[in-house]
Amino acid sequence: MCGIIGCVAEEPVAGILLEGLRRVEYRGYDSAGMATISGARLRVKKGAGRVVEIEERLGLSSLKGNIGIAHTRWATHGGVSDKNAHPHASCRESVAVIHNGIIENYLPLKKALTSKGHRFKSETDTEVIAHLIEAEYARVKDPLKATSAATKKLKGQYAIAVMFQDRPDVIVGARKDAPLIVGVGDGKMFLASDVLAFIEHTDRTIFLENFEVVELTRNGAKIVGPNGKEVRRKPTQVAWELSDISKTDYAHYTLKEINEQPQTVVGASVQEAGRVAEFAKMVKRAKSLFITASGTSYHAGLLMKFRLNKEAGLRCDVVVAGELREHAGFLGKGAAVVVLSQSGETADVMEAVKIAKKSGAKILSIVNAAGSSLARESDVVLLLNCGPEVGVAATKSFTAQVVVANLVVDAVLGKKRTNGFKELGEAVRVALETEKQILGLVKSYWDRPDFYFVARGYESPVAMEGALKLKELSYVHAEGMPASELKHGTLALIEKGTPVVVINPSGDAHADSLSSAEELKARGAEVIGVSDTNDSVYKHFVQVPKVQAKFMPIVEVIPLQLLAYHFAVARRNDPDYPRNLAKSVTVK
Ligand code: F6R
Repeated sequence: MCGIIGCVAEEPVAGILLEGLRRVEYRGYDSAGMATISGARLRVKKGAGRVVEIEERLGLSSLKGNIGIAHTRWATHGGVSDKNAHPHASCRESVAVIHNGIIENYLPLKKALTSKGHRFKSETDTEVIAHLIEAEYARVKDPLKATSAATKKLKGQYAIAVMFQDRPDVIVGARKDAPLIVGVGDGKMFLASDVLAFIEHTDRTIFLENFEVVELTRNGAKIVGPNGKEVRRKPTQVAWELSDISKTDYAHYTLKEINEQPQTVVGASVQEAGRVAEFAKMVKRAKSLFITASGTSYHAGLLMKFRLNKEAGLRCDVVVAGELREHAGFLGKGAAVVVLSQSGETADVMEAVKIAKKSGAKILSIVNAAGSSLARESDVVLLLNCGPEVGVAATKSFTAQVVVANLVVDAVLGKKRTNGFKELGEAVRVALETEKQILGLVKSYWDRPDFYFVARGYESPVAMEGALKLKELSYVHAEGMPASELKHGTLALIEKGTPVVVINPSGDAHADSLSSAEELKARGAEVIGVSDTNDSVYKHFVQVPKVQAKFMPIVEVIPLQLLAYHFAVARRNDPDYPRNLAKSVTVK
């Protein structure tokens, strides 16, 4: 949440920062702003709205200077307004700060600073950082030391970038529990919340650790650890390329990413030699086993648990990451926690990891972002290899997670390898051909207020995922649940014309799900069957190809992703930027 970019270069930076802002806008899109230093003056332009609107209104790109910082906001403290947009300047406008995170003790800090004569212009927690740094800078006259001293007073999470009016050669950054990385370019250096912000200029990055402070000049980065000692760390090369983050001919990233899935499922199956076996060994040996994740990744975790329980006979609990604390009594030495996350930066997930590690449990992660905090905190890492996911709604990362989870379960079951990925890729391509039919469904149902998704057994998480996608992209109320639960309450909401999607592959649960469909139909529901096999109970039938049972969720979720995407378009929502949300949820 919140996108940060800073750049110091031999050339004007406003254009570079604006492009970077566009690339990290998926992290938050309430407001945006930029600050540069030119002619010994610090200038700030900022406002509420999307980057493109603010550029049109205020002309961010006209700011002069070879050094600057820029920010896209996902509001936490203080409403969405021009004055609450970042950057925030100190009283004398000599220090400018951008921030991602939450300062939990901002109220006492604000009170103390106000009593010393500091005047605040916004309602944000961030502004206290600017005032604190201004006060420290007046004392120590050193940007890095001033920032370091100020951050020691902060409680909460932060990734910040700071500029000082009288030091037009330096940007200072600091982080705790929020991502911040350095980009090492030719004659330009970057500070950003993720690599996408500067991938056009360099793929060489240095990942900062908690409590480190960095001073960036155009020639390099000086990193200082919490003990005040300099830390030397070589840049690593990231695998993602600029071409990965272009929309190509698609109207939206979300649609592009849905359509990438025939390749994604194959890419996810290719893992470093021995890594899956090592992961599986630790799963098998664990005295107590947990899976944890948030949102869509949690749904992939539920699928993994199902097979571990049913096929491998391993007892394991799946817990949403934000609730793992409540289960800490069952963690400890000998426990293992499988963590699934696209971004590897989700605050709830990282908090769960902290709790698990503190107890002595091992962390086994399945993650997309290779250099992310999660990947760095893990004992074993399996990568999704699906390239950057820019659309706020998780699509290709989900199917990649299902693939990797299945590799692990198969290894736990003693299989030397998992086969059938070429066929799976082809089946996904066929599932994508349901789009025309989905457009028909959207035409019939786009204005309905409620939607339900049900399934049984292994497919239940697919129902939950279908509902989550529809909610977040179309803003239509949707619920996903095991079909067996309908009669315990939800059936009361079904009336004439209520659309219900029944995900029902041929197999063990097929007959029971057909009974649920009949019960729904008898109460007026219009049942949409998603299956490899048709039945007269369905008013509409979306046929997906038959693949190995463990991969069925992958082909079943494709039409549900398409449904959510086209609903959003029909309802004139921007599917890439759903309201109130942001990708990479780095606040608790
Ligand atoms: C839904 C969605 C979110 C994420 C969740 C976890 O489409 O994108 O529910 O799945 O915020 O994010 P990661 O996987 O990055 O930890």
